[in-house]
Amino acid sequence: MDRLIINGKRCLKGEVKVQGAKNAVLPILAASILSKGKCTLMNSPALSDVSVASDILEFLGCDVQFSHNTVTVDSSGADKYIIPATLMEKMRSSVMFLGAVISRFRKAVITQPGGCDLGSRPIDIHIKALRQLGVEIQEEQGIILCFCDEIKPCKITLDFPSVGATENVMLASCISKGTTVLVNAAREPEIVDLQNFVNAMGGKISGAGTNEIVIEGVKELKGCTYCVMPDRIATATYLCACALCGGEIALKGAAYEHIKSVTDVLIYSGCDIKTYGNDVIVLKSQGKLSAKPLIETAVYPGFPTDAQPVITACMCCAEGKSVVRENIFSDRFRYCSQLKKMGADINIVGTGAFINGTESLFGADVEAMELRGGAALVLAGLKAEGKTTVTNVNYIDRGYEKIEKVFSGLGADIRRETDEG
Ligand code: EPU
Repeated sequence: MDRLIINGKRCLKGEVKVQGAKNAVLPILAASILSKGKCTLMNSPALSDVSVASDILEFLGCDVQFSHNTVTVDSSGADKYIIPATLMEKMRSSVMFLGAVISRFRKAVITQPGGCDLGSRPIDIHIKALRQLGVEIQEEQGIILCFCDEIKPCKITLDFPSVGATENVMLASCISKGTTVLVNAAREPEIVDLQNFVNAMGGKISGAGTNEIVIEGVKELKGCTYCVMPDRIATATYLCACALCGGEIALKGAAYEHIKSVTDVLIYSGCDIKTYGNDVIVLKSQGKLSAKPLIETAVYPGFPTDAQPVITACMCCAEGKSVVRENIFSDRFRYCSQLKKMGADINIVGTGAFINGTESLFGADVEAMELRGGAALVLAGLKAEGKTTVTNVNYIDRGYEKIEKVFSGLGADIRRETDEG
């Protein structure tokens, strides 16, 4: 498995073009099976999770091509509705194929999805909502069998605004005879991107971005060309890196309004942030941050759980004490054991990380255990005195396109080593 070797203590300076959003392109790839034509997705990030989604589409009978951040999916030949466990367990987003495959074939057979280990990640909210749409669902020895005569549009109220469950309802109901109203829907920007993509295929969805989404069923969807939104978590990661290390970076192709909860913290902590035009964010930092006493993750537009590890890395080196509280996932602080090896003063008590900022961190051998925690270790390595080795880079590759190239382009001393064989 690959590892990153980082010699820290360098300021960051330069420009980055922000990658397309992982959490937008994955449900969009699942949605592409709903069109019986060809979909072209521009600004698709080259990530291992995107390869897994492509493998699932190909397994289902689609033709998928990826070149220069553009994916084309021709789903006219799709003829299978069973996704094997070997593909399902490679990522959480495989569950998005449930709603899409049911919609296309009126049946689907899947297993529990895999994904980063962030604590318990059940799919009960997805299952309950799909049952309300008239889908019969049985689970036998880990295999989930789903079938229906037709989707029955109705009003559904989610028990919690789950991002994935919201997307599955949109996908399952967008081709149907009638209107589905989804109450207590997730409001994340990636839901808006999915709505826009389905509508570009000829769907009639409105309200995404609010907590009530109205899905007017249509008879069929056609192919389209679509540009995926910028990745707000990659944006937050690069901003936090510069905040921590000091310097000045410009992020191009970014969406400032999607990460205001993160930039608010960075501004409070002493960074200077400006936006230019629609899509450029410039951050300047002296590399000396003040601690924010309390940062709490919440559903959008609150502070994103996916940016919790990178802001924690910042608070580890900020002057003062802070508490970072994780309210979305039950076990998202495992990476803190690795930050402690680098000199971070963090105590995890329940859902809170209690941090005493230290002036500096020191390089160490650390292990990425999941995607965003792995990114936090890279940021800590960029800040630390001496050499840091981050192993298990495959976790980081799920969500960041060539992270070492982004940071070396900004002046960091970082390189990837790959084991032979
Ligand atoms: N939940 C349930 N039952 C369900 C669904 C969710 O209890 O049926 C719980 C989860 O266990 C979790 C919480 O609800 O505690 C939030 O889960 P949600 O369904 O909203 O998240 P998701 O769809 O599994 C997406 C992103 C995650 C991101 C979360 C929250 C994708 C592919 N993944 O996951 O991204 O953290 O929303 O914003 O869109 C990442 O990119 O690193 C990542 C983990």
